[in-house]
Amino acid sequence: MYLQLKLLTMKTPSTSKFSIGSIKYSLYLIPLLILIPTEVISAQQSTSAQGEELFTSYCARCHGVGGTGGEGPSLQGRQFVRAKEESDLVRLVLTGISGTVMSRTWIALDEARQIASYVWALARVDDQLVEGNPSSGSEIFSSIGGCANCHIINGQGVGIGPDLSNVGARRGVPFLRESVVAPGTSIPRGERGSHSNFLAVRVEMSDGRKLRGMRINEDAFILNLRDTEGRYYMLQKDKIDKLTREFGESIMPGYGSTLNSEQITDLVAYMTTLR
Ligand code: HEC
Ligand code: HEC
Repeated sequence: MYLQLKLLTMKTPSTSKFSIGSIKYSLYLIPLLILIPTEVISAQQSTSAQGEELFTSYCARCHGVGGTGGEGPSLQGRQFVRAKEESDLVRLVLTGISGTVMSRTWIALDEARQIASYVWALARVDDQLVEGNPSSGSEIFSSIGGCANCHIINGQGVGIGPDLSNVGARRGVPFLRESVVAPGTSIPRGERGSHSNFLAVRVEMSDGRKLRGMRINEDAFILNLRDTEGRYYMLQKDKIDKLTREFGESIMPGYGSTLNSEQITDLVAYMTTLR
């Protein structure tokens, strides 16, 4: 009985997306529909429908509608690092993941359980195949893309932008593509966004010098920044005439016109393999 109910909870997400899967599951379901009293079925279905609805309100802005990925990783067809079973997901929702932008969600335990059950089922549907050729993407990354001039992967490269060693586990495909094509738009806005450590700043010093770079560190008196050539500056704030924090802008060039669409697809495919 327990197993049969599990199958039922898996049904909702798969029917909406994967026709082959749904045919398979409906075949399983024919005998179950006869065995299980109808109240049980409708209770289960409404639970997972509620789970989906709650997911859409609380999680989809980062994980995409249906868990396809965005600023947060895709939750489809994967093993979680921090959740070996469904109950771990309940905890994850209620506590968030410290050190990341995923903060705790303020909902009732019961609602967290519904979300967890929906996400657990998502993790068991087949992941969408990622288009593109990862090995050619890797090639582009270190050659014509010039990406290694600003990014470190497994210790190789220069760390002006974020370390990309596990970017495939942190980000979904749509976000990765947007990061490459239109860097500024994918930066979460505001001081507390996930790239607040990669804030671009423009500085005019009282001696007339003008600088632009990444803010490394800032307090009431000092601003540390690194420019695109990798030079490091420690500036005293009382010597700064004008300081502009460029939220939503990036020092990373957009590649929409320098790389073709196939090259960008390959780059994205490569980055999804970085876990
Ligand atoms: C503000 C954006 C944001 C929101 C909102 C958010 N997440 Fe996340 N989530 C992330 C990011 C980013 C990661 C990747 C963290 C990392 O590994 O660095 C993540 C990771 C995860 C993981 C994978 C954990 C692992 O160990 O593999 C799960 C599962 C998850 N989130 C579920 C949820 C659920 C369920 C909700 C809604 C209750 C939610 N998230 C809301 C950004 C978000
Ligand atoms: C001049 C330096 C520079 C170059 C060159 C560069 N990047 Fe970036 N990249 C950054 C910075 C800085 C960020 C942080 C967010 C922002 O400012 O856009 C970033 C962010 C990213 C992100 C988002 C990472 C995350 O954790 O969310 C991805 C993905 C990315 N870059 C991929 C690439 C790829 C692929 C290339 C080559 C085609 C590339 N970058 C070239 C500086 C650079």
